[in-house]
Amino acid sequence: MDAEAVREAYRRWAGVYDGVFGAISGAGRRRAVEAVNRLPGQRVLEVGVGTGLALPLYAPQKRVVGIDLSRDMLQRAQQRVREDRLRNVAGLVEMDAESMAFADDSFDIAVAMFTATVVPDARRLFREMRRVVRPGGELLFVNHFAAEGGLRWWAERTLAPLSRVLGWHPDFALGDLLDDPRQAAEIDPCRPFGLFTLVRVPNLELAPA
Ligand SMILES: C[S@@+](CC[C@H](N)C(=O)[O-])C[C@H]1O[C@@H](n2cnc3c(N)ncnc32)[C@H](O)[C@@H]1O
Repeated sequence: MDAEAVREAYRRWAGVYDGVFGAISGAGRRRAVEAVNRLPGQRVLEVGVGTGLALPLYAPQKRVVGIDLSRDMLQRAQQRVREDRLRNVAGLVEMDAESMAFADDSFDIAVAMFTATVVPDARRLFREMRRVVRPGGELLFVNHFAAEGGLRWWAERTLAPLSRVLGWHPDFALGDLLDDPRQAAEIDPCRPFGLFTLVRVPNLELAPA
């Protein structure tokens, strides 16, 4: 999917997203934000903030900036911030996560929930998240990752051609995000049924080539 296909898919999803997807993804979202809240540092970037379902879960001392490609999803997030009077949301900005306008080292933590499967190029997303987070900060992802075999693998392969309609890639694997799974300090299955996985990657300084 290119950026225009993402905008188009989430223009359709925006009005029904919370009802259709909110409950099934709730446990994974709570796990990710609990992990963010435990980490040191106040400056948090939420990439692909969507309708802002996670925003009320952040600890009051965190300062959260959310970005998203979809104006329709962001409008829902803005409404949530107003209605819930969320004082720790420092900004909601229409921006491409694969090419962010933030300076290097702008954040302590970046978190992408159910977004790595949607962005046109997950490796670019990962590189950009690394760039805008300070060395020693943390990157977190919660996502559905494709099974390596069995019935679920078969179902995911079958659904893959429908990614433009669905708005995400059912056959997205952890290897599509990370060069090497050993980069992750934590890979934890989340409820329901381990359908989603929390991945935490310390933003280590790269050794010179
Ligand atoms: C499945 S939704 C997840 C929303 C939210 N994180 C949640 O937990 O419900 C994926 C979101 O990623 C956004 N997105 C996709 N590609 C993006 C990109 N390149 N830059 C910024 N946002 C993007 C979509 O517009 C959509 O709002």
